[in-house]
Amino acid sequence: MEKNKPEHYFCLTTPLYYVNDVPHIGSAYTTMAADAIARFKRLEGNNVLFITGTDEHGQKIQRTAEEKGLSPQTQCDKVAASFDQLWQQLNIQYDRFSRTTAKRHEAIVKEFFQRVWDNGDIYLAQKQGWYCVSCEEFKEKRELVNDGYCPIHINKKAEWRDEENYFFRLSNYQSQLETLYENHPEFIQPETRRNEVLNFIQQGLQDFSISRVNLDWGIEVPTDPKHTIYVWFDALLGYVTALLDPEDEPTLKNALAKWWPMDIHLIGKDILRFHAVYWPAMLMSAGISPPKQVFGHGFLTKDGQKMGKSLGNTLDPAALLDRYGADAVRYYFLREIEFGQDGDFNETRFVNVLNADLANDLGNLLNRTLKMAKKYCNNQAPNLKGEDIPSDHPLKQIGRGLSDRVAFAYNNLNFRQACSEISHLIANTNKYIDEQAPWSLYKQGEQQKVEQVIYSILASIRLSAYLLSPITPTLSSRIYQQLGFAIDFNQPSSFNDKIPFQVHQCWGIFPAQQPLGEAKPVFLRLEVPAENPL
Ligand code: MSP
Repeated sequence: MEKNKPEHYFCLTTPLYYVNDVPHIGSAYTTMAADAIARFKRLEGNNVLFITGTDEHGQKIQRTAEEKGLSPQTQCDKVAASFDQLWQQLNIQYDRFSRTTAKRHEAIVKEFFQRVWDNGDIYLAQKQGWYCVSCEEFKEKRELVNDGYCPIHINKKAEWRDEENYFFRLSNYQSQLETLYENHPEFIQPETRRNEVLNFIQQGLQDFSISRVNLDWGIEVPTDPKHTIYVWFDALLGYVTALLDPEDEPTLKNALAKWWPMDIHLIGKDILRFHAVYWPAMLMSAGISPPKQVFGHGFLTKDGQKMGKSLGNTLDPAALLDRYGADAVRYYFLREIEFGQDGDFNETRFVNVLNADLANDLGNLLNRTLKMAKKYCNNQAPNLKGEDIPSDHPLKQIGRGLSDRVAFAYNNLNFRQACSEISHLIANTNKYIDEQAPWSLYKQGEQQKVEQVIYSILASIRLSAYLLSPITPTLSSRIYQQLGFAIDFNQPSSFNDKIPFQVHQCWGIFPAQQPLGEAKPVFLRLEVPAENPL
């Protein structure tokens, strides 16, 4: 039924976030990583579909709405809007925002349920167990801590449930899942997450319940309206609904026609099992191939401590963005934290990293270079080409192959590595200026040498800004504009149509005699306010 997706089509997702509360930094973290990948893929000239959205059904949302005296739909609408607002602030260019209360989503879920039903993988049985409403998940008794509390939500007591539920025969898919993991080691990344899943399924898979009774806030089970569909079964399908074009009839066939199989689901490590075990099994049951990859990143801590409401040390992403802006926030989290491992936010460290890397090493480099070009080269790029620079030139040597190394890093979601490859070029460019001292060369009348120095610095700054643009799009655009390019990395049509990736990614393509702009600071130094640290 699904056709093979054309090459150069790339589809990725963030989780669909719960709307019980305003967005927290964890959701912002996944979303900025997804946006950086989406932007990199667009830069390469791919057709990209970047999906995010909200998960709006279930007991957790229903209860929150009740506590606030709102209807569940009003609660959902309010919080979904606050996610969208945060994504604007963080400069996220998503293509689809999937909401699980959308009418067309209901049609997709019902059709999917029916397929799994027809395949004989759903049955009715009694479910007894401990349920954590915050996780929307049954827990084993041995997993609970402090006499009955959820290990993730340590202030939430698990609730006893004893009710009739429909079950999905996950146990039927044990060997198919094993084969998937074995034949596609890249399916679960990074390696540590893959091992977690392998250990989990080695214990033997148990069927899981996929319906609830006494819960209205959900999609009815088509074969038995007393039940609503379990929120996770419903939410995972939100990825599929998002694939429909606006004018499409909401059918699975239409949804899967263009973008399936998806390339990457980006998630946090706490929801790995749902994505790497339950989801591919559900798809197999419905006769649909699994996605290509699930990547589970680590958790963020603040000042070395787990973030949480009970500790009162949550980091509000909107406040962070108000204070420092999108590029700074994106750069810190993607540069500082090994994607896949846990990482920490500390405001002093945040400010120090940004001042060192973006204000000093990159911003000042551009500033002094433009001033030199104005003085020594008539405010335009020297009349040279990349080929005129000798092949053993130190910057040309680093610049050659840099794009391949950075692309490799981005394609492996290794943002830290991508940044450090770029920083290496920037650091060496600064060192090169000091060594060459173009101001002395100029005084000595060595105009040709001065021009070679300036050209190679301009080429290095341009390439660095280009390769950083998936992470710091606004800063990169400012740099490009001061270098005389009419390119805005926040407007994909302004770069892909003009200069193809194959050209942009070369070090020595700086156009000879291109008029340069006026030197203005591109990234202002930051300071932690003494009064009010975050
Ligand atoms: N609604 C489900 C996802 C359904 S996807 C079909 C959900 N939502 S969530 O809002 O609770 O979580 C969203 C994401 O935030 C998860 O990927 C989770 O891992 C991530 N994080 C929550 N706290 C986090 C940190 N402290 N640090 C990093 N990410 C964290 O789960």
